[in-house]
Amino acid sequence: MAKILGIGIATVDIINTVEDYPAENDEIRAFSQRRCRGGNCANTLTVLQQLGHECTFAGILAEEPAGQFITQELKQQGINMDYCRTVTGKTPTSYVILSRATGSRTIVHYRDLPEFSFADFANIDLSPFDWLHLEGRNVAETARMLALVRERFPSLPWSVEIEKPRPGIESLFEEAAVLLFSRHYVTYHGYSKAQAFLQKWHTTLPDTEKICVWGEAGAYAIDEGGKIHHAPAFFPPQVVDTLGAGDTFNAGFLDARLRHRSLSESLTFGCQLAGRKCGQQGFDGLG
Ligand code: ADP
Ligand code: FRU
Repeated sequence: MAKILGIGIATVDIINTVEDYPAENDEIRAFSQRRCRGGNCANTLTVLQQLGHECTFAGILAEEPAGQFITQELKQQGINMDYCRTVTGKTPTSYVILSRATGSRTIVHYRDLPEFSFADFANIDLSPFDWLHLEGRNVAETARMLALVRERFPSLPWSVEIEKPRPGIESLFEEAAVLLFSRHYVTYHGYSKAQAFLQKWHTTLPDTEKICVWGEAGAYAIDEGGKIHHAPAFFPPQVVDTLGAGDTFNAGFLDARLRHRSLSESLTFGCQLAGRKCGQQGFDGLG
């Protein structure tokens, strides 16, 4: 089992499940509503913890009841929160429309909290950790965090989730053990196929494992020899909740890699776990 440090966000998600996604200016009823703790990194750690790893979440929390709710939920999962910083402000909140007809999840996200900074990161004793997982968000500060790791903890491997195109985010690619790309990032850069994108980056970064998730088409990766691997999505009997499918895939993939499974097996495990997640509400019981 690995000791994993995750740097990223934790949110409150308000999830309205509707029969069909509405048209603009419609007024419709949700047939259910729930409020839960979300955030890419927090979701991924929640699943990794269930898979038997010892996880620490480091991020910024708001000093208000919603922030306490997040802390409580993550602690209940057994996740260490010692390195979080609490500030005054409003908890990042996602307003989510889950469509029962298509399984789509549409997210309106609001945040005004500062991002976890290099100074916050520099306070963390990295020596106990076996793996570092970061969200590619706050590019300049994250680049400084990685420089510190290279200099002081050169044997600590890291993965970065590249979800949204952000100026300079490519500066976070170098020397990562694993890069986890979203379809959105890949298509934004003009690639209609994950394979071509992976091949392009393989020439620049042959030693980094590069993964692309592709929704219902599963996930792709490229190996050291430049061979493309694909795992299909695993469809549950009924798609119930796709929110956090990518975060769950990331947890499954990282877990399998940490157990020294092959690239191909790790892709498959990530897709299996993400598929199971899509068939149920939330992230419980995935371990
Ligand atoms: P995100 O949740 O970040 O938008 P994706 O939609 O690309 O990420 O999905 C991540 C992974 O989740 C995919 O690789 C696939 O294995 C799985 N997945 C996504 N949607 C479904 C679905 N409707 N049914 C089964 N598996 C799915
Ligand atoms: C799902 C998710 C939600 C969160 C949003 C943040 O992947 O992490 O839990 O509200 O994305 O962008």
